[in-house]
Amino acid sequence: MSSPLRIIRDKLSITQTELAELMGTTQATVSRMEAGQWEPNASQVQAVLRKSNEDGLDLSFDDFIFSNNQELSTDQNGNTKEKNYFNHKHLLGIQELSPEEITFLLDLADVYAEKNRTVDRKLSLLNGKTVINLFFEESTRTRTSFELASKHLGADVINIAVASSSIKKGETVIDTAVTLNAMHADALVVRHPHAGAVQLLSEKVNCSVINGGDGSHEHPTQALLDALTIRRRKGHLQGLLVALCGDVAHSRVARSNIYLLQTMGARVRVIAPPTLIPSSIERLGVEVFHDMRTGLAGCDIVMMLRLQRERMKGSFVPSVHEYFHFYGLDYEKLSHAKEDALIMHPGPMNRGVEIDSAVADDIDRSVIHEQVEMGVAVRMACLDVLTRTT
Ligand code: CP
Repeated sequence: MSSPLRIIRDKLSITQTELAELMGTTQATVSRMEAGQWEPNASQVQAVLRKSNEDGLDLSFDDFIFSNNQELSTDQNGNTKEKNYFNHKHLLGIQELSPEEITFLLDLADVYAEKNRTVDRKLSLLNGKTVINLFFEESTRTRTSFELASKHLGADVINIAVASSSIKKGETVIDTAVTLNAMHADALVVRHPHAGAVQLLSEKVNCSVINGGDGSHEHPTQALLDALTIRRRKGHLQGLLVALCGDVAHSRVARSNIYLLQTMGARVRVIAPPTLIPSSIERLGVEVFHDMRTGLAGCDIVMMLRLQRERMKGSFVPSVHEYFHFYGLDYEKLSHAKEDALIMHPGPMNRGVEIDSAVADDIDRSVIHEQVEMGVAVRMACLDVLTRTT
């Protein structure tokens, strides 16, 4: 089976070494890409498209997107079968992913991000497949971007509003999921207020389950889209100093980001009042600060977190006014980070609580809208790899 990149190289009539030079990578990496073990990133795809254009060939992003993470392997009886390089049926958390798997997803998402900026962005990769969004908690970004991602890939999408479902009549979460599974869904995207609920549900169904956020546990696609945004702006994740500021204690975004950033070689600081930092957080390998100015010193990325009042039992901050005074990101506090530090926020934002409006809207520093854009691309990559035949 020839991989799409191998077919593209044949069309370009160039050697593997010449293709590596064109893509700014090594011949070994091209070899892995041609075996379907690695995805080219957006700038590598663009370099190849430029060459194909010069040569008068009719290549497009689609020719790369249909590349896959599988190759043929032969078992002991001599039968060939496809070997999958993303060996997960579900995406429940970042903690279960290797650096190679994270890079694989980011590279694929990078290609989708470029494709989504073109007029002709609709694909048919998931034609005939059904994605169900099952959200037990409110969401704007995650639910909508999973819906858009599914539609961009050609899947049918069903959104279950819990308020109008049989859950309101007393049906359990598991019975609901099993019912949806019996309708032959190919992927279930689930958000639930309780940590571990999505994993439990994944054990009861045949289809792939993607965690859209479970309690204070994990929000894997958020961390992936954050990483893609950072990587596209800074060129890499390795060696960056990232500050996660605010309500770390209740944040699944913080937890998934800590796992991902450290796995990819970044250093992570958490900055918050003691009441909003879990007591054993140092075990995750992060540095803890209670003062914004010292914590932000030298940081490349400033990621603000919302006060998750819906998860708080009791009072964790004296007042919103005082919280903003000490921990809200304004230009004065930001001046302690690196001059080119990026401002991030997973949303939804509480302006005037964890972030000043002017800082949030600063088009030179804030990448908050780009995070939302990358959310669609990342979710396309996740749906793509998880719905491939295994
Ligand atoms: N960041 C995030 O999960 O946003 P939503 O709650 O709007 O999905």
